Amino acid sequence: MVPYTLLIQHAAQVLTLTGGPDDRPLAGADLSNWGIIEGGYVACVGDKIVALGPMDELNPARIGPETRCLDATGSVVMPGLVECHTHLVFGGNRADEFGRKLRGESYLDILAGGGGILSTVRATRAATEADLLANALRHLAGFRRYGVTTLEAKSGYGLDRDTELRLVRVAREAGRRQPVRVVPTFLGAHVVPPEFRAAGPRAYVEFLLREVLSDLKGEAAYVDIFCEEGAFPLAIAQHYLEEARKMGFGLKIHAEQLHDLGGCEMAARLGAASVDHCDYLTPAAAARIARHTAGRTVAVLLPLVPLFLRQERYAAGRAFVDNGLPVAVSTDFNPGSCPSKNLWLALSVACLKMGLTPKEAVAAATLNAAWALGHAADCGSLAPGKRADVLVLRVGSVAEIPYWLGENPVRDVVIAGALA
Ligand code: NIG
Ligand code: FE
Repeated sequence: MVPYTLLIQHAAQVLTLTGGPDDRPLAGADLSNWGIIEGGYVACVGDKIVALGPMDELNPARIGPETRCLDATGSVVMPGLVECHTHLVFGGNRADEFGRKLRGESYLDILAGGGGILSTVRATRAATEADLLANALRHLAGFRRYGVTTLEAKSGYGLDRDTELRLVRVAREAGRRQPVRVVPTFLGAHVVPPEFRAAGPRAYVEFLLREVLSDLKGEAAYVDIFCEEGAFPLAIAQHYLEEARKMGFGLKIHAEQLHDLGGCEMAARLGAASVDHCDYLTPAAAARIARHTAGRTVAVLLPLVPLFLRQERYAAGRAFVDNGLPVAVSTDFNPGSCPSKNLWLALSVACLKMGLTPKEAVAAATLNAAWALGHAADCGSLAPGKRADVLVLRVGSVAEIPYWLGENPVRDVVIAGALA
């Protein structure tokens, strides 16, 4: 019998995230019905989990001199966090706009005046590839300290062919240079760049479809678009996603962030893996999405965004869950609407402002986030055969996770079976 290479033992609680359906994300009551082992262990061989259970079922014959043992007495052990929506790669920052927002300017007003996303586009175009990579690696190191072991990275601050391809390349290179797995998404359709202002959004998406998407095959699994006033209208977003789907890409959308334009429902009907933001998605539309997609499209909730943009309206997470729509939670890390990498804080705000329970919030940032990224087969829960992405936390129960507001509970981060 092969000896364990890593054994995490004596955990107060092992949050397995197992016990639900294995062919779709967790929804409804399943979102909180997953298993917890009190007084348990997790054992790994190489980069895979091979066994877990209560301590009295641990097989001592598989502990050898090569087994590295981590004592988790008094601690929660859980899967690595899956961060399913970030804009990781960008130049500059927007600290100046923070002041403007505090003085009352809105997100869309700043964008309409050529700032916002467009100001980050200018800074990103001006940055060297080496600088963009160094910044991305610095942010990834920060995410890793928060226990993020898989992370999505969207392009979207280039808005021209070369810069957009550079951003995807940087995300992939950043994934190779450190242990957190990076999953790139193409968000070339973030807003209309100045060069296409006169020609308009339709001409810009035609350009992306014609001249950029063909070079992304195998480089990015998903194509995303920002469907919003001041960005892309519903009909153009639909056309773009339909064409991207024909080219073999998975689909995502930024929708119902500031207005209800129907983007979430449209994208879900096209088979989107996730619909993201959803602050203006109605509970009735959420129920329709759950029904039409047979619970396969995940609503990605981003609770730090309304907080940072000083908005009162938060996604109706409680109603979404009760209506059978699977939800994930993410930071949306980016320089404009959420300069925070603290996914634990996002979980707390998801409980406080969206009505999730602690168990639901944990599932939303692990297994359901993995579904939103198409990686549920290899991460998001603790089960034999999955990649050994495991956290040891400085808290003793799942109830404490969203309770210590703003703290980082992570003691140890294991990625692919190695302490990171
Ligand atoms: O997800 N809403 C659109 N895009 C990003 C924000 C990008 C930015 O402001 O730089 C978001 O919130
Ligand atoms: Fe976003």
